[in-house]
Amino acid sequence: MDSHSDSRSDSRSGSRSGSRSDSHFIELDRVEKVFDVRRKTGFLRRERREVRAVDSISFTVARGEMVGYIGPNGAGKSTTIKMLTGILTPSGGRLRVAGIDPSRERTRLAHRIGVVFGQRTTLWWDLPLIDSYRLMHRMYRIPDARYRANLDRCVELLELGDLLDVPVRQLSLGQRMRGDIAAALLHDPEILYLDEPTIGLDVISKAKVREFLRDLNAENGTTVLLTTHDLQDIEQLCRRVMVIDHGRLMYDGPLAGLHEVGDSERILVVDLERELPPIEAAPARVVKVEGPRQWLAFPASESAAPLVARIASEYPLVDLSVREPDIEAVIAQMYAEQADRAEQADRAERADRAERADRAERAGRAGEAEDAVS
Ligand SMILES: Nc1ncnc2c1ncn2[C@@H]1O[C@H](COP(=O)(O)OP(=O)(O)OP(=O)(O)O)[C@@H](O)[C@H]1O
Ligand SMILES: [Mg+2]
Repeated sequence: MDSHSDSRSDSRSGSRSGSRSDSHFIELDRVEKVFDVRRKTGFLRRERREVRAVDSISFTVARGEMVGYIGPNGAGKSTTIKMLTGILTPSGGRLRVAGIDPSRERTRLAHRIGVVFGQRTTLWWDLPLIDSYRLMHRMYRIPDARYRANLDRCVELLELGDLLDVPVRQLSLGQRMRGDIAAALLHDPEILYLDEPTIGLDVISKAKVREFLRDLNAENGTTVLLTTHDLQDIEQLCRRVMVIDHGRLMYDGPLAGLHEVGDSERILVVDLERELPPIEAAPARVVKVEGPRQWLAFPASESAAPLVARIASEYPLVDLSVREPDIEAVIAQMYAEQADRAEQADRAERADRAERADRAERAGRAGEAEDAVS
């Protein structure tokens, strides 16, 4: 974790800040992953089906960025991360991590990345935690001093002191996760992929993990790609978020910008001097009235200022406040809309196929009739 350590003089030597290799530290250009899935459909029948887990995804991540990668179950998040580590080979497109093609040079890349799969441990199940770390020390050929320094820091910040001699299988989920995060960092990776690192953790453990990651990113400039279903992870850690669904990138930008993508609304809560008929201030519309208090919904993408000015000039205003749309609601809406679109496309494709089959059959019958006449 000592990012300025002298012993790493390979490709990081010299100042390269601001260079293209820094701005395109992780680079995906129309990357695809198609799985061939065979399904048993009858006694001897098997159906072959293609699953497009990742469907032409392009993005870049700059060195030192901390980016959230979110999406519903089955969206393709883990598949993307597996390609970024070299575990899976893309079916198409171009992929580079720190200038390296992950699936071709997986071992070389392994020295520069750390991975945590929240669903699965990389630790040795039956060994005490410290033995897993000792094995990694050897495997990654980490210089002794660096190994000690990194281990000490992780033990302190992730509170692993009492756990080092406990076999991994006896650790609680939260303890094991902290153990896994430490394991991913012993060799000073420049990039850290976290696939659901807070899954199943209690509130306090989540807070600790988040704080640790924030410090790691701030102090060492570690580039972090974070997948999670807990939007608080993203809110607290990432300025940028990417949303993926059905293998496609739906959004890439600041978390706050998501409000503008969904047709979400903000709410202006207005306190008037007295009860009055619903305020007229299109495009805002009154959605609730309670005595002198009225709630007006208006598009989240629009500024509240002109609306407030108008209401203040035309109505006896006492107080007001603006409520932001709940980010969870915005994302839920976004996922739902995408699911609707996918279902519609699926229905249209099925109808189209049925119509084509019908037409082919009718043409066939007409052909037979002609043959009979001639
Ligand atoms: N090895 C595999 N063989 C066949 N299909 C796979 C394989 N791995 C993933 N898939 C399919 O690819 C799609 C994307 O899976 P992936 O694990 O990347 O989703 P995810 O976004 O990580 O979801 P979750 O939030 O549930 O972890 C899913 O439809 C999944 O069934
Ligand atoms: Mg996953």
